[in-house]
Amino acid sequence: MKMKKKILDILKRRGIVYPSFEIYGGASGFYDYGPIGSRIKHNIENLIREYYVIWEGCFEVECPTLSPEKVWIASGHVKNFTDMLTECLKCGESYRADHLVEEHLGISCEGKSIDELYELIRGNEIHCPKCNGTLDRVYHYNLMFKTEVGHPGKIWYLRPETAQSTYLAFKRLWEIGRKQLPMGVLQIGRSFRNEISPRQGMIRLREFNQAEIQFFVEPEKKFSERFHEVSNIKAKMVTKDEKEVVTSLADALRRGIIKIEMIAYFLGRSIQLFEEMGIKRDSLKLRQHKDEERAFYSSDTWDIEFVSENLGRIELVGISDRTDYDLRAHMNLSGEDMTVNYEGKKFIPHVIEVAYGIDRPFYCVLESCLVEEKERTYMKFPRRIAPYLAAVFPLVNKDGIPEKSRGVFELLRKNRVYTLYDQSGSIGRRYARADEIGIPFCITIDYDTLEDNTVTIRDRDTKEQKRVKIDEVVDYIVKV
Ligand code: GAP
Repeated sequence: MKMKKKILDILKRRGIVYPSFEIYGGASGFYDYGPIGSRIKHNIENLIREYYVIWEGCFEVECPTLSPEKVWIASGHVKNFTDMLTECLKCGESYRADHLVEEHLGISCEGKSIDELYELIRGNEIHCPKCNGTLDRVYHYNLMFKTEVGHPGKIWYLRPETAQSTYLAFKRLWEIGRKQLPMGVLQIGRSFRNEISPRQGMIRLREFNQAEIQFFVEPEKKFSERFHEVSNIKAKMVTKDEKEVVTSLADALRRGIIKIEMIAYFLGRSIQLFEEMGIKRDSLKLRQHKDEERAFYSSDTWDIEFVSENLGRIELVGISDRTDYDLRAHMNLSGEDMTVNYEGKKFIPHVIEVAYGIDRPFYCVLESCLVEEKERTYMKFPRRIAPYLAAVFPLVNKDGIPEKSRGVFELLRKNRVYTLYDQSGSIGRRYARADEIGIPFCITIDYDTLEDNTVTIRDRDTKEQKRVKIDEVVDYIVKV
């Protein structure tokens, strides 16, 4: 079985992730996180939260996902947040014109205009992949979902990024933060993009999760006091003029490959963060956006990509210098003064943004942690990511063993340990199920437990089993 199929199979069978609206035929670009998936997703989000709130001293905010049209006019999204679309004149199916041409001709379409793309489609006789019909002219298609709130005719949009809602409250946060720079603000939440025929499962969703951090900084001070903590990290890097180098972040900065120290710093922190999630460092690549590919609000962007065995390059995080573009834009349209008086200077702060997706790292964690052995498949999740730390199994469902097992389960729960109770099927099958969802410890209660108050604890990775006293179980699995 191919890895991708194997992962998809485990995702569905074990209730990790599955298509939304399934009983009505489903819809591409929408997925449910099931009971196991939700636990893993929260763990990923909590790792990010911990990094930025504890380590970087960021505030965390939560803002609405819907916002009035003015927000998106000011931000430039109404005008610029578009993809290039072509439709089949026969069956009506829509396609991203650049993707279609790239698939057919094997060339890069970055920076191509709508006219150039249409010429390539016509000149190379590219037809509708579904019905072979003729494709229409290429046009700009806005990716935001539009709706109305209250009065008919009042246009609102679902946010395509969390960032804007953070910017809107800048002045309030500035006061709350006692007027200090840099000031970091994290927001974890849903974003929405009306992606054209998304076909890559969880990688391109129409409703997805982001964890975005906005660092408000002095325009001339895009440094980090703690860069030395990550400066020796080595990585593969691809610059905007396609030069490939493998070097340390310190060397990249020295040689001007990466120009902004704060960007280099957060590239380093993000590599550490992804490693902590279980993603292997050597499957990551740093890539600078080319001028024609960079978002309209950014003066420099670096991504970290995961090189997937199944799905090719997957962008996990984008780190951008957004300058004062957004605050200035909102100041101009709303009339709210976004300038600050800081250390004797008056200016609009610049923003360094660290924008993580959650769903893509989620998939990449699964791909990285999947281990296939001769007689079993398991997820080698780091403990912080595993959906449960332990599973409790009564060996049999009689002779007082279920009652004793419930006691162990309660003990773990009282100690705030996420624990699964599983009493059905043979012990072998229960181990297999726990392995597939990456539970680090399985605790079996048997006849000896009734005699001497000890249980068997099996380690997921080594399969080693140890006898441990019940009152030492919590310490054992938390500390080992
Ligand atoms: N605020 C900046 C911003 O939104 P982005 O590169 O468009 O930048 C940031 O998005 C991250 O969000 C990406 O690196 C990716 O992980 C995730 N992301 C973007 N579009 C997505 C989609 N359609 N489905 C799933 N994740 C997506």
